[in-house]
Amino acid sequence: MERVQSASGMRRRADALRCGGRRLVLVPTMGGLHRGHLALIRAAQKQGDHVTVSIFVNPTQFAPGEDYADYPTDLDRDCMLLEETGAVDTVFAPTVDELYPTGAARQAMWVQSELLTRHLCGPHRQGHFRGVLTVVTKLFSCCRPHVALFGLKDAQQYILLKRLVAELLLDVVILGHETVREPDGLALSSRNAYLSRTDRAQAVVLSRSVTAARRAILNGERRVTVIEALMQRIIRQAPSARLEYAEVVSTADLQPLEALLPGTEVLAAVAARFGKARLIDNQFVTVPAARA
Ligand code: PAJ
Repeated sequence: MERVQSASGMRRRADALRCGGRRLVLVPTMGGLHRGHLALIRAAQKQGDHVTVSIFVNPTQFAPGEDYADYPTDLDRDCMLLEETGAVDTVFAPTVDELYPTGAARQAMWVQSELLTRHLCGPHRQGHFRGVLTVVTKLFSCCRPHVALFGLKDAQQYILLKRLVAELLLDVVILGHETVREPDGLALSSRNAYLSRTDRAQAVVLSRSVTAARRAILNGERRVTVIEALMQRIIRQAPSARLEYAEVVSTADLQPLEALLPGTEVLAAVAARFGKARLIDNQFVTVPAARA
């Protein structure tokens, strides 16, 4: 496993590997690695023959007042975990200067989507998705992957990235990986480290609420207001939860729905704060045909 820090070094390595006929797979991360990241990395191994994991805490995707300064970082620990998997060939861990040569605050060029960030996390995290889309474009440019893997836990991010490569004609295949959970259902997240013991116990309402939404849809509920109220009710069972949103949107364009049409795919998604941890969860559901 080799560590690469410079953008040009990474690009040279990726070009040489491509010339040698290798199929390159990229798993972008911000470090603070947990079993969710490691599952993505193991899945990456099956998609090609050279796995690169990027570790970069991207300053431009943190809105003002968010946890950029506190974000859990320990590159040596992360590299040890990656080494143990035996699945990683290259770790790309650039500095901020490498990825933002004119400075993160002075950058003039951005990738963004107005339409796909109107709902869910978009309105609550100003500039977040612009930062994600821009940094992932840079990571693609340095690592030149044939395939890149992303977690479905960050569903809005995944849907945006699918559209990014489709509309900007980028030559990379985006694959989604199912959410890895704790035994009680809580989705693994680097930010779970911020939870107090009480909040950790209560945070299970997030997965319960989206699972209940999924069950309701599969059982024939078609009224979005009823499904959203159900998710809200479950989250309110946790006294320390501060609900940000509980919404059902279309996976095609992330817009709100009034009624659910059979055969369409929808996303039931929630976000809530517990102390200083902001957590999200979701379920993708294909609306079944109406019962006769
Ligand atoms: P980060 O939060 O470190 O997540 C890296 C990848 O791991 C993302 O694709 C995320 O969806 C996935 N992931 C996180 N928790 C998961 C879980 N419990 N189960 C399955 N996959 C999980 O997402 C980012 O970093 C950044 O926005 C990034 C794409 C790297 C751009 O900076």
